[in-house]
Amino acid sequence: MTHIPGLLDTEAIRKDFPLLDRQVHEGKKIVYLDNAATSQKPRQVLDALNAYYERHNANVHRGVHVLAEEATELYEGARDKVAAFINAPSRDEVIFTKNASESLNLVANMLGWADEPYRVDHETEIVITEMEHHSNIVPWQLLSQRTGAKLKWFGLTDDGRLDLSTIDEVITDRTKVVSFTLVSNLMGTINPVETIIRRAQEVGALVVIDASQAAPHMVLDVQALQADFVAFTGHKMCGPTGIGVLWGRQELLEDLPPFLGGGEMIETVSMHSSTYAPAPHKFEAGTPPIAQAVGLGAAVDYLTAIGMDKIAAHEHAITEYAVKRLLEVPDLRFIGPSTAEDRGATISFTLGDIHPHDVGQVLDEQGIAVRVGHHCARPVCLRYGIPATTRASFYLYSTPAEVDALVEGLEYVRNFFG
Ligand code: ALA
Repeated sequence: MTHIPGLLDTEAIRKDFPLLDRQVHEGKKIVYLDNAATSQKPRQVLDALNAYYERHNANVHRGVHVLAEEATELYEGARDKVAAFINAPSRDEVIFTKNASESLNLVANMLGWADEPYRVDHETEIVITEMEHHSNIVPWQLLSQRTGAKLKWFGLTDDGRLDLSTIDEVITDRTKVVSFTLVSNLMGTINPVETIIRRAQEVGALVVIDASQAAPHMVLDVQALQADFVAFTGHKMCGPTGIGVLWGRQELLEDLPPFLGGGEMIETVSMHSSTYAPAPHKFEAGTPPIAQAVGLGAAVDYLTAIGMDKIAAHEHAITEYAVKRLLEVPDLRFIGPSTAEDRGATISFTLGDIHPHDVGQVLDEQGIAVRVGHHCARPVCLRYGIPATTRASFYLYSTPAEVDALVEGLEYVRNFFG
């Protein structure tokens, strides 16, 4: 077996994930390499979800009975855990949403209704990048259409990095908001956050970071990042689906208007007007995703017990090995960085002129789960003149043997298509 320094004890970790034991296609053990789409869930998270529904289920913030109090404690306890996980200065800066898309739409809509100094209008500009997931493109297109603000973006270099050579022309005195991903969901590129934030701060623009592909994989410290908003989702970091997070700086959350109106986000309501509860409740209208938040809290406990620095080191070691092995595959073209530096454990590629959907299907027949397509980041495919990629993405339970299985699988695909 390949020994690589820095790896976690995957034999022990994999015992926590019942799904990784599954067999598919008549006895083939699953090789799950689609972690950028969603991660598998450890027993600890599944147990927390079950325990919540079996023993504590009630609505939160509303009841005087014991179950309502327990549910509220568990829900608000999950907020404490998430706040500690991202080193938020205050728990009140953590807003629960249903996913990262909703978090990003929430910011765009807060700004859409905002007064000065945050107002976005036809004299202002919004900056994104060409490597964004659609969820960090479309909300800004909608805001731009609604307000007349100009939408600008950073393009990509041939090796899958942001082209920041014209940063002073892209981010200008007119820029109101700069929103970009910390890690590309298609290419795995890790972006130079400090350079972008420094320039955004020079012109007084707000900074929004899509950390969906970062929060599961590395230490995420919102104070060190110095952004204004950070969005991520629970299901990619061992939590359940249906729960996302928006972290925002307290003074912004106090100043900016709510987006969704409804129960629990108010202080008082009359037939003429309403006043709003303080953040985070101002941004959490209606019954929130209670069980999902509890599950996310359990996921945060799980990841923290292993250590995000150790998880990052594991993934870096796996990525180095995967890059080295994939470079051995004839006709394989990396879409994105072809080195292990400044990149996460998500690797996209094409294989000769074999369509990625065919690659994915033949890999699937061997029990290897990858994602194929444009990965909700179609502008990246357009930039590189391809319809789609095959994407392998690794996580804390991924092993060198799974990298080897992928490489053998690709050899099989090449032979299959002659
Ligand atoms: N955003 C997820 C992905 O990149 C679904 O696959």
